[in-house]
Amino acid sequence: MASEEMYLQYHGLLLPKETHSPESLKFVRKYTFSDSDVLAVTYPKSGTIWMQEILPLLLNGGDLRPIHTIPNWDRAPWLEETRLAVVVDQLPSPRALVSHLPYHLMPPSFLASKAKVIYVMRNPKDVVVSSYYFHQMAGFLPDPGTFEEFMEKFLEGRVLFGKWTDHVKSWKHTELGDRIMYITYEEMVQDLPAALRRMSDFLGRNLSEEVIEKIAENCSFETMKTNTMSNFSLIPKVLMDDNKSPFLRKGVVGDWKNHFSSEQLTRFISVISKELENESFSLPWSL
Ligand code: A3P
Repeated sequence: MASEEMYLQYHGLLLPKETHSPESLKFVRKYTFSDSDVLAVTYPKSGTIWMQEILPLLLNGGDLRPIHTIPNWDRAPWLEETRLAVVVDQLPSPRALVSHLPYHLMPPSFLASKAKVIYVMRNPKDVVVSSYYFHQMAGFLPDPGTFEEFMEKFLEGRVLFGKWTDHVKSWKHTELGDRIMYITYEEMVQDLPAALRRMSDFLGRNLSEEVIEKIAENCSFETMKTNTMSNFSLIPKVLMDDNKSPFLRKGVVGDWKNHFSSEQLTRFISVISKELENESFSLPWSL
């Protein structure tokens, strides 16, 4: 299948047809946010499925049943994907959702609600590497070509959900005030219990240290890798082939060092820095 046929275009963004449809994108516009909804927003490959594990547990006080019985895409569905309409009526309250949409494409009811957002940001050098392997294993995405070729596509925004810099900018400039919390993938890798405490405080959950530790243990990379409800092993190989590359691939910070040449590093930093040069915010890590 030609690469253009694998995507649909949505306000200039490329979205995979396998998981998105014109109907699902209409459904988002009509989705009624409740004040208690909690949304984790990410640019793809920044820790989305990690949040699909974490959020339900933070919201239900550490009851492990959802992560043991419901696949990640149905327990904290993507706002923009086709599964939301199928499972929306079965979601417990408060609802946990995830999204890759930029801020300006959020539905009107989101802006009118008090729903909270956790925006997870990951160093784009590791994002491009993770995405490169994801394109190798996902049968519904075009072949990434060489790493060099894929990096160019990434920098030009000819990939899922467009440019990384546009995504970050859109979520850094919101009118959400204390409804939004920012966290990094790196912070979560470094000290997951501390990251969970911060998220739990933000969500107004008063979780004991024992519960935080239990959630951390069950949301570790190793545990998720063996959880069939979280590692995408329920998906047919033709769509996701973990023999080519597992979805839960390495789960580390700094894998870019094994992939970037010094020329690629210079180019990557110069393009990203230029696109952020007039921004009022600074990145939480050096590029
Ligand atoms: P790698 O490919 O670098 O391993 P997303 O869910 O947004 O697609 O992001 C996928 C990335 O998050 C993958 O990165 C995956 O391994 C990582 N990830 C998922 N769960 C994780 C966890 N519990 N700990 C660390 N990394 C995790």
